[in-house]
Amino acid sequence: MEGKPIVMSGIRPTGFLHLGNYFGAIRNYVRMQEEFECFFMVADLHSLTTHPDTKELKSNVHRVLAENIACGLNPDKVALYCQSHVHETTELYLYLNMLAYKGELEKTVTFKDKVRLQPDNQNAGLLTYPVLQAADIILHRASLVPVGKDQEQHLEMARNFANRFNHRYGDVFPEPQAFNYNDQLVKVPSLDGAGKMSKSENQMATLYLADSDDMIRKKVMKAKTDSGPTEQNSEKPPYIENIFLLMKLVSDGAVVNEFENDYNNCNIRYGDMKKQLAEDMVRFIAPIREKVEGILGNEAYLKQIMETGAEKARKSARATMELVRESMGLNYF
Ligand code: TRP
Repeated sequence: MEGKPIVMSGIRPTGFLHLGNYFGAIRNYVRMQEEFECFFMVADLHSLTTHPDTKELKSNVHRVLAENIACGLNPDKVALYCQSHVHETTELYLYLNMLAYKGELEKTVTFKDKVRLQPDNQNAGLLTYPVLQAADIILHRASLVPVGKDQEQHLEMARNFANRFNHRYGDVFPEPQAFNYNDQLVKVPSLDGAGKMSKSENQMATLYLADSDDMIRKKVMKAKTDSGPTEQNSEKPPYIENIFLLMKLVSDGAVVNEFENDYNNCNIRYGDMKKQLAEDMVRFIAPIREKVEGILGNEAYLKQIMETGAEKARKSARATMELVRESMGLNYF
C-alpha cells in the first residue's frame, strides 16, 4: 500500500452501462487496480443535483456496482464504495466551498448545460457540483484521476481548490491529474454511423451490457451499410469504418483481416460481416450480463461489498481529515 500512487474516480449511478463505458472507462479501472491504490466511488450524492427523486437510486447503485464488478473490478483490490457512506466527503466539501468562488462556479460548462436542461431547479448543489467532486478526489489525497475529456474542467477546478487550500492552510493535498493509458483511449462508435455510443443518443445504436442476445443481434444487423466498394483498396465511408472498429474490439484479429481483405478486393458481404460481429458481440457481452444478474440477485454480497468498500474509504478519509482540521486550526483541545 505504501508508496503506490493513489487513484480516485467517481461513477455516476445512472444504471445500464454500455460498450462505450466498458472500453472508455471500466477497462482502464481494471488495469489500474493492478498497479495503483485505487478508490472507485459511486457518486450517489452528485446524482441528487439532477435527480432529487430517489425512488430508483438504490437499484441504480446496485446495478452500477454489479456491472463494474462483472467487468473485472475487484472489490478485494480496490476500495469500491458509495459516496454517501463516507461522511468525511461532505465535511471536506463544506471547507472547500469557502475556497470556491461564485464567479468561477457559474462559468463551469457543465453547470451552464444543466441550467439549460433544468431551468426550474438551479439548486446550489448544481452550482457546487465541482466542489463536491474535488472533495471526492482530494479526500484520499489522490494524484491520478481516470476520467474522460468531459471532466477536464472539473479536474482543473479540483487542482485550483487543492492549491488554494495548501496555500492558505499548509500543504496537505497533491495536485490531482487526469490519467489515461495512452493506448487505451478507444472511442466506441455508435451503430448508426454517427458519433460515439452514448446513453442519451439513439438507444438502438448503443450496445448495453444488459442487452439480451437477441437484442444485440437485432442492433448489430440494423447497422448501416451499402452495396460495397467498387474500386479496390478504396477508402471506407465512416459508417463502414465504424463496423470494422467495433469488430476490432471483440473479434479475432484473423477474422478482422479476412473482412479487410474482402473489402479491399471488393467482394465483402456486409450481411456476413454483421452476422459475425453480432455473434462476437454476444460472446463478449453475454457472460458479463449473466455475471451482473448473479450479483444483483445476491443482496447480501452487495451489502458486504459496500460495507467493506466504505470501511477502506473511511480509513483513508479519516487520516486526511485529521490533517485538514489540524492545518485549518480547527483543533481547540
Ligand atoms: N462528475 C463525474 C461524471 O460526471 C463523476 C464524479 C464524481 C467523479 N466524483 C468524481 C469523477 C471524482 C472523478 C473523480 O462522470
